[in-house]
Amino acid sequence: MTNSSQDKAPLLDVNCLSVDYGLKGVSLRAIDRVSFALQAGEAVGLVGESGSGKTTTAMAIAGLLSPNARVSSGEVRYRGSRLPIDDDAAMRPHRWCETSVVFQGAMNALNPVHRIIKQIAEPCMLKLGMSRGEATARARELLGLVGIPTDRGSAYPHELSGGMRQRVMIAMALACRPSIVIGDEPTTALDVITQAQILKLLGELRSRLSLALILITHDLSVVAECCDRVMIMYAGRIVEDGTVAEIFAQPKHPYTRLLIESIPNPASGKKMIRPIPGDPPNLVNRPSGCAFHPRCPSAMGVCGTEVPSLDQFGRGRVACHLHRSSRGDKVAVHA
Ligand SMILES: Nc1ncnc2c1ncn2[C@@H]1O[C@H](COP(=O)(O)OP(=O)(O)OP(=O)(O)O)[C@@H](O)[C@H]1O
Ligand code: SF4
Ligand SMILES: [Mg+2]
Repeated sequence: MTNSSQDKAPLLDVNCLSVDYGLKGVSLRAIDRVSFALQAGEAVGLVGESGSGKTTTAMAIAGLLSPNARVSSGEVRYRGSRLPIDDDAAMRPHRWCETSVVFQGAMNALNPVHRIIKQIAEPCMLKLGMSRGEATARARELLGLVGIPTDRGSAYPHELSGGMRQRVMIAMALACRPSIVIGDEPTTALDVITQAQILKLLGELRSRLSLALILITHDLSVVAECCDRVMIMYAGRIVEDGTVAEIFAQPKHPYTRLLIESIPNPASGKKMIRPIPGDPPNLVNRPSGCAFHPRCPSAMGVCGTEVPSLDQFGRGRVACHLHRSSRGDKVAVHA
């Protein structure tokens, strides 16, 4: 690819990406023909119930798929160049340097026997080739960036609060100056006030460092606060994609509508999350047609037999027969 076409390419281009997991002789398709583009500095929420493929999408993009995963179709391009996401060794120079991930539950990810300054300095030495002195200076700078007083750098993980540990994880994710940060449920294990502080920090870092952000969550209200755009996943597929304003004002997919309706709204007397009736599908034995049809209040005959394609609507996309048939189009048949 030439320099000028690289300049025009999105920061990240995920094209028809499918990932299968093999486990005890059984194979399941965790993500299925996922396609989207991410522009520099953009913040996108990735939302869906447990098992919908959010983490698998993140791991594929970051080159962190587990050994039993297989990329069965598609590609990921970063600044126009194809990433070797299914080749562990070839992916090494890209990992953490272009896209990095902040996981939930920092206590499990941090090494309990090393001081945090050492843990933040380590990727700077390993990935950026810094000397120990340079890496320690960079780690101090990163501590400041995430709002941890530098004298706390000598603490061990267990000496810090959950929120502080998550700030350490963010510092580590930023160590190699990536242009994309994926937060995989980065605030799930935290209390409400600390959650808000961490989300605020991610928002501030995003504008200060011109980062693109992919925020993975079950919680649409988090996305409403932090993101420009939202992609809704169901059973490994993107079923709706649009700006936060459009999706909240006028959700097109019945699953998106139910997700929005499930958000508590104390002002209208709805204090509890109202779960969507039915269970997420078993991906080993995926429902035929639209995977949401066994739970969908709007399901029609065609929904049980034909997979709806993900079609462009204005600036957004939706995969639902209701919208195709309301335009009078012929229903597309996909494998
Ligand atoms: N290493 C693995 N081996 C086998 N199956 C896996 C593996 N990782 C994930 N899966 C399966 O792939 C599907 C998608 O999982 P994934 O973790 O991507 O979903 P998720 O949307 O992140 O869910 P959650 O909200 O629970 O984190 C699920 O059915 C899950 O059980
Ligand atoms: S395609 Fe049919 S089952 Fe699927 S969401 Fe649309 S109406 Fe519901
Ligand atoms: Mg997950």
